[in-house]
Amino acid sequence: MTNSRPAVSWIGDAVSGHLQLIDQTRLPVEYLEISCQTAEVVWEAIKSLRVRGAPAIGVAAAYGVVVGCQSARQLPRKQFDEKLDQVLNYLAGSRPTAVNLFWALDRMRRTAASVAGLPSAELLERLLVEAREIEREDREMCAAIARHGLPLVRGCSGILTHCNTGGLATAGDGTALAVIFAAALENPRLQVFADETRPLLQGARLTAWELMQRNVAVTLICDSMAGWVMKEGRVQAVIVGADRIAANGDSANKIGTYSLSMLAKAHGIPFYVAAPSSTFDLTIDSGEQIPIEERASSEITHAFGRQTAPEGCLTYNPAFDVAPATHITALITEKGVIQPVTTSNIRALMATA
Ligand code: MRU
Repeated sequence: MTNSRPAVSWIGDAVSGHLQLIDQTRLPVEYLEISCQTAEVVWEAIKSLRVRGAPAIGVAAAYGVVVGCQSARQLPRKQFDEKLDQVLNYLAGSRPTAVNLFWALDRMRRTAASVAGLPSAELLERLLVEAREIEREDREMCAAIARHGLPLVRGCSGILTHCNTGGLATAGDGTALAVIFAAALENPRLQVFADETRPLLQGARLTAWELMQRNVAVTLICDSMAGWVMKEGRVQAVIVGADRIAANGDSANKIGTYSLSMLAKAHGIPFYVAAPSSTFDLTIDSGEQIPIEERASSEITHAFGRQTAPEGCLTYNPAFDVAPATHITALITEKGVIQPVTTSNIRALMATA
């Protein structure tokens, strides 16, 4: 099975084109693409993780705005704007934690506001241009993150990662995984340890798949094995992505990241978070203010396609947690590396062009 197309792409023109996604819930057993022709289908795809990973969610939502507004292209501008508002608010309700979703929707909103006099049909074209630009920028950000991150992991023989932060999670090569791809190109003997990432197994299903497709040596471990792998000296760095980074550097990422950051600190192993500037939320001071998505208990009680817990068992299923800035050795962004991770260093780098 090969990955023939980017995780998120636009097919056709603004009037009748659509968002095309790889359905990530089917990987690695089945490679299936889905066409999203309505905002409802895009919302469902984001909610159910057919498209997932913070940057990819942002790109998908931007294209979702275009498909959601196609039916209004012949309406007067005022009605188009009402429809746009409705679609933006609707898509914003799909998932709460990855700030890239809100960042992308806000860009689409501001694009429309900046051309107040433009007729609806032309605005629709303009919105597609903006969504394409968000996709293009994301691809470039991935490449820059890889460039900035590579020197930090040069010389590592083993790197541990969590969840999926590669081509499936972005419009490009990924964030944390892009750094790993670059490191593996330089050092073909690099060994990547991928946490399986319970409960939805993004590490096992997606990261192992992506690494194997690119011929990078990957060893899959259960999440609970990470500490022992560190203790045995098998990894010299941990790199993860992020869904939202607060102004002080606290970083929300897939559940399990908090524990990993503690384990890395306890073992004296550098812990890196790689993310584009679209993942930074400088409106919040700390991770305390990051909304954490809670998902259905069935993700825990019915794992691996069958019932795996007693009927009626209580569950708690936060999809994300927050690694405190004090545990993070450096933040790797497309603008450069932030080390040490402090509010002033973050604000200074984010203020650069
Ligand atoms: O629930 P998911 O699969 O969308 O969670 C994804 C993650 O937590 C990723 O690590 C994060 O979005 C960074 S992707 C470059």
